Amino acid sequence: MMWLNSARAESFMPTQGTEIAKQVDNLYGFLLVSSFIACVILIGGMVYFVFKYKRRTPTDKTAYISHNTFLEFLWSFIPLMVFLGVFAWGWYIYHEMRSMPKEALEVHVFGKQWAWEAEYKNGFKTVNEIVVPVNKDVKLLLTSNDVIHSFYVPSFRMKQDAVPGRYTALWFNANKLGDFHIFCAEYCGTSHSGMIGTLRVVTQSEYDNYLEMGQEESTLPLAKRGEKLFALKACASCHNVDSPLTKVGPSLFKKFGTKEHVEDLPDVEVDENYVRESILNPNAKIVKGFPKNVMPVFQGQVSEAELSALIEYVKSLK
Ligand code: CUA
Repeated sequence: MMWLNSARAESFMPTQGTEIAKQVDNLYGFLLVSSFIACVILIGGMVYFVFKYKRRTPTDKTAYISHNTFLEFLWSFIPLMVFLGVFAWGWYIYHEMRSMPKEALEVHVFGKQWAWEAEYKNGFKTVNEIVVPVNKDVKLLLTSNDVIHSFYVPSFRMKQDAVPGRYTALWFNANKLGDFHIFCAEYCGTSHSGMIGTLRVVTQSEYDNYLEMGQEESTLPLAKRGEKLFALKACASCHNVDSPLTKVGPSLFKKFGTKEHVEDLPDVEVDENYVRESILNPNAKIVKGFPKNVMPVFQGQVSEAELSALIEYVKSLK
């Protein structure tokens, strides 16, 4: 009865990340194949009759045919049974999708213009990344901070609106390890198409580590958090932090609080605002002797919270 086995379905559909995804594909495959068969019978029959009953001479007379009760019954009854079968099948899968498991791992997910924010029970927050353990019932509680978004994971064949002012939910049990796309499937403004995230399915122990690390991160002192970010954003490849030697960019060692000579402008004091500006818009005040347009512009790439962490880190380099 499985019209498309999983291997074949995956060649033109996204990976099946859950059992329900397989069931949805089976139903979809059945609809596709049965529609194709119906189309061949209907159009094929029509073309065949056009030739078979073509008027050969001008005096040809059409035979008198009234109707055939049995035939008419069959062509109504068989499709009716197929449609009812499809209805029952679809209802069964939908019911399974919408019946929330009682003992599920719950994660809060907030849609906002334009990112997906996730918050775990231990208070750890992530943006555009949701990590869940494999083979475990997971329930996502969705809501929105602004307009309606739609949480969509093609590999799980599920989609659920995130609506401001109320909670909606979806659940899944991912049976494959790996990274899966999260999309927003409801037009929500300028960067709707950029509202993309990753749903990472990992082993239980990896998940436990992830949460633990995450929790540590949120309780880490600002400067420590900045140090991690500094590594993450690859700042260290151009800036020394433990010696005054310059690399591609000036060293940041003992830099905070000093005066800096900059190109075409009076000296500036290296304070919070100068560090901030130098991260967000590095070309504004280039240190004398360094080239322009080498450091990437981080405007829009780092949040305010990340900026404060980075600034505290630069301050701590003594
Ligand atoms: Cu959020 Cu589209």
